[in-house]
Amino acid sequence: MKAAEAAAMIEWLVEMGADEIIGDRPVNRLVAPKPKPEPEARKPAPAPILRPQTVIGEFRGGPLPAQSSGTSDAAQMAAECGTLAEIEQALMRFDACPLKKTATNLCFADGNPQAQVMLIGEAPGRDEDIQGKPFVGRSGQLLDRMLQAIGLSRRGETPETSVYISNVIFWRPPGNRTPTDQETLMCLPFLKRAIEIKQPRLLVCLGATPTQRLIGKSEGILKLRGRWFDFAAGHGSIPLLATLHPAYLLRQPAQKRLAWRDFLSLKQKLNSDAH
Ligand code: URA
Repeated sequence: MKAAEAAAMIEWLVEMGADEIIGDRPVNRLVAPKPKPEPEARKPAPAPILRPQTVIGEFRGGPLPAQSSGTSDAAQMAAECGTLAEIEQALMRFDACPLKKTATNLCFADGNPQAQVMLIGEAPGRDEDIQGKPFVGRSGQLLDRMLQAIGLSRRGETPETSVYISNVIFWRPPGNRTPTDQETLMCLPFLKRAIEIKQPRLLVCLGATPTQRLIGKSEGILKLRGRWFDFAAGHGSIPLLATLHPAYLLRQPAQKRLAWRDFLSLKQKLNSDAH
């Protein structure tokens, strides 16, 4: 292939949204797989080993997959953490989540750990993966402007004027694909422990994934947004507001008015129950 042809192909791939290399060798996925040769004599399949299955929750109308060893390791490691810094260190040691293999950086949290408000997004994208911080790309810039409009900022110096931001998933899914249930279940114990340790006054979930995962409901975000729920953390519960994800607002700017209503509700809640 000539250099100009190769360059044109790469350009086409980038336009199609492929913005990273995830394997050493190219794979032609359009070629039909070769049929596997029939085994000469079929041996009877070994009896399956039956293990007790722990179903750990209901999601999108069906049970979640059984708890894998990765998820139970995650739960144990998270439970042993006593500070946010320890959670970040534990995530650096935690190797069971497949997303870690293709990500550039761990993306745990940003903002003021003393902030009264904690925001939770879905998963890091390309810019977040490069910088190792949540919401630093285009949707993060929109989020910063929305927060600024109600007097909050991740750089705010006081608990009343600042926010702390994290995600359900801590490593970028390759090509921004939707994380699998198992990947999500491996990250959730760390997020839940971070909430327990930080004890924010208010939680804000950006989009369907964090909302559904934290409150255990399967309705769509357009039904859930604008509503306050209770998130059980440790001995108490934390008010949780569901709102729209800024990336959705970039695609559907007309919906910004709904997000604006939600942010006003957040501001009102902050002012009305001021500590
Ligand atoms: N979208 C998210 O949900 N989280 C980020 O950190 C960036 C974009």
